[in-house]
Amino acid sequence: MLFNDERKLALLASWIKESGYTVVLTGAGMSTESGIPDFRSSKGLWRNIDPSMVASKYALDNNYELFRDFYTMRLENLRGCKPHEGHKILADWERRGLVSCIATQNVDGLHKLAGSNNIFELHGNIRTIRCETCNNAAEIKEFLERKPCPKCGGKLRPNVVLFGESLPYEELENAIQAISKANLVIVIGTSLQVYPVNQLPDLCKGKKVYINLDVDMHNHQFDLVIKGSARDVLTRTEILLKGLNEK
Ligand code: OAD
Ligand code: ZN
Repeated sequence: MLFNDERKLALLASWIKESGYTVVLTGAGMSTESGIPDFRSSKGLWRNIDPSMVASKYALDNNYELFRDFYTMRLENLRGCKPHEGHKILADWERRGLVSCIATQNVDGLHKLAGSNNIFELHGNIRTIRCETCNNAAEIKEFLERKPCPKCGGKLRPNVVLFGESLPYEELENAIQAISKANLVIVIGTSLQVYPVNQLPDLCKGKKVYINLDVDMHNHQFDLVIKGSARDVLTRTEILLKGLNEK
């Protein structure tokens, strides 16, 4: 088993080295090792909370108190959370020309904090706030203090995509373009349950790799499936990659 794992990691390292155009697609499992819970695994947020009640356009329009409490909790959870070694390795791969861009479903901004530049935030970013009515930007502090929009009195909300809203057109379009021409796509820490992001890996005509703690369901779609944590797999792959470059 150990041998098998090492063999898979070595294969991944060689594919990254040879690819020339690699796109990384991440989900909540990329951030759990930074202390941010995911949604659908055993400790995931959606185990105890119905997303349609708190994270939907309906909740924003009809149940603002609950909506605001939920995103206040999420923003407070983010305090002190930092990118881990895996985020930093991805940023380093971009600097070394090994990764072209990252498409992420995460709203925590950790890829940016780790130093990645070419990022498509497909579900928005929770660290910026806007008014639902007039679109004016507001401060996180104003949202946390339960204030209305300073310009028009409307409801403040984080810049995340809610259930019932569409994804930001340009980010999605850029991600589609990039994955369509990629020679390698590496999908990390997502259950691929949410449309339309779960359609993206299939657009890649090159090699497809899936890295996740839980791997059972996705084997058919991917050329390589690696069971392990994002930080661990990326750290071990980086060691092998450096070894390849020294040869
Ligand atoms: P999920 O919670 O659905 O999936 C996270 C996946 O990461 C699971 O398959 C876990 O097994 C895996 N995982 C957890 N920790 C890991 C680790 N350390 N290393 C590797 N894998 C790990 O989260 P997403 O697929 O990102 O949308 O969810 C997609 C969307 O659903 C989210 O962006 C959010 C949610 O509702 C919106 O809020 C619009
Ligand atoms: Zn306003």
